[in-house]
Amino acid sequence: MIDIHEIYFITSNDHKVEEANRILSQFGICLRKSNIKKLEIQSNSLEKIVKYSALYAMKKLKSELIIEDSGLFIKKLNGFPGPFSSYVYKKLGCDGILKLMQNISDRRALFKCVVGYCSPNVKPILFCGICYGNISNEARGSYGFGFDPIFIPDNSNGRTFSELLPEEKDKFSHRGIAFRKFGLWYISNIAKP
Ligand code: IMP
Repeated sequence: MIDIHEIYFITSNDHKVEEANRILSQFGICLRKSNIKKLEIQSNSLEKIVKYSALYAMKKLKSELIIEDSGLFIKKLNGFPGPFSSYVYKKLGCDGILKLMQNISDRRALFKCVVGYCSPNVKPILFCGICYGNISNEARGSYGFGFDPIFIPDNSNGRTFSELLPEEKDKFSHRGIAFRKFGLWYISNIAKP
């Protein structure tokens, strides 16, 4: 029988929990959403935000936990919205980004995800995933969440994240890359048989 390792995931975003669990199931890891308040400092660095949030959550939870922060960085907008992606998505949505990108021909962008793990015995350790691509000219597709309808990852035959099946998105995505790194590390270092 395979042991399933349950770890708290401090987030309010159900989409992230669903994606992370799809990716981590191959490692025998299951994340359980915790609604304790996530403290987010303002910083340009996702790494700093995750480290700080992880230490803060550990004080409260005193148990193994995962924190994740991610963002969309658009080259010609000097990395905007970056760490402010969640706020910008709520205020402007995909349409707002498309408007900002009107008449801009260089549409290079990337999604970045930083996953932080810590436990009462392990200081925060970070795993990073980056997915390169372009901002589309219009929103397309129905899968996913957030900026998925306007992000075309490289090597997807021009399809946006929202036009890929969820399992296809996982192969390319920043979250897929970061959580697979975490899963491999966890089974080799923490969950050793
Ligand atoms: P946070 O990590 O909770 O601060 O939120 C990051 C924000 O970036 C989300 O609310 C989404 O708007 C956006 N985002 C992060 N990852 C993805 C993704 O995989 N697809 C689409 N949007 C994403």
